[in-house]
Amino acid sequence: ALRRPMVAGNWKMNGSAQLAQELFNKFAVKLQNDSAEVVLCPPTIYLESVRQLLEANKEALSGSLVRMGAQNLSQHDFGAYTGEISGQMLKDSGCRYVIIGHSERRRMYGETSDIVAEKFAAAQKHGLTPILCVGESGPARQARRTFEVIAEELDVVIEKNGTMAFDNAIIAYEPLWAVGTGKSATPEQAQEVHAFIRKRLSEVSPFIGENIRILYGGSVTPSNAADLFAQPDVDGGLIGGASLNSSEFLSLCSIA
Ligand code: G3H
Repeated sequence: ALRRPMVAGNWKMNGSAQLAQELFNKFAVKLQNDSAEVVLCPPTIYLESVRQLLEANKEALSGSLVRMGAQNLSQHDFGAYTGEISGQMLKDSGCRYVIIGHSERRRMYGETSDIVAEKFAAAQKHGLTPILCVGESGPARQARRTFEVIAEELDVVIEKNGTMAFDNAIIAYEPLWAVGTGKSATPEQAQEVHAFIRKRLSEVSPFIGENIRILYGGSVTPSNAADLFAQPDVDGGLIGGASLNSSEFLSLCSIA
């Protein structure tokens, strides 16, 4: 395939070093050489455990791509920002990816679109690939404003970073009404928005439009993943709840 599928597990504020161990025990036996790129995004405090497991399982995992991501980073490089973590620190910890602009951060931690755009820039500056989350709320969908919201969220990042910045980025479409609700978007709804995102980026760079990976996130489970991932513009998933169950997560990796 043109775009290698990706399954990224966002543990949010869940999990443990033991969950990491359990996942790697299963990866070592079950991950196939041809499977999707797998990304683990544990809470920052467990990045080091995951890094050690990656190292210890290097041979068993050769041929598969298992990588690490963070759930957030500071838009600042360093300084008096108590509790924050910089892009450089995440890079030093072995992260390749970082989730940016998750709806939980936008809604609960006051991350405005401008901050999201700055974080996107900070990630790239430090050699991390941003996984940029976009998505409309339930009321916005009902008001038929889905495309408008998505376009706005993309445009702020494009304005600050330029379209070419998307050469090193992943997008995750996460409709807010589907996150953690058990009510996934239908494959058709996901495809429609993914195609819109791809088209929008293609208008400025056909190369990026064609190559960028767009993940779907929001109540993905082993029972709905096959239909979602089969859509032409859906390149895998950003998984919350189901990433905390090692059997379910492994099965999502093989479906992608
Ligand atoms: O980042 C992951 C998403 O917010 C999806 O979460 O799979 O629990 O709905 P969920």
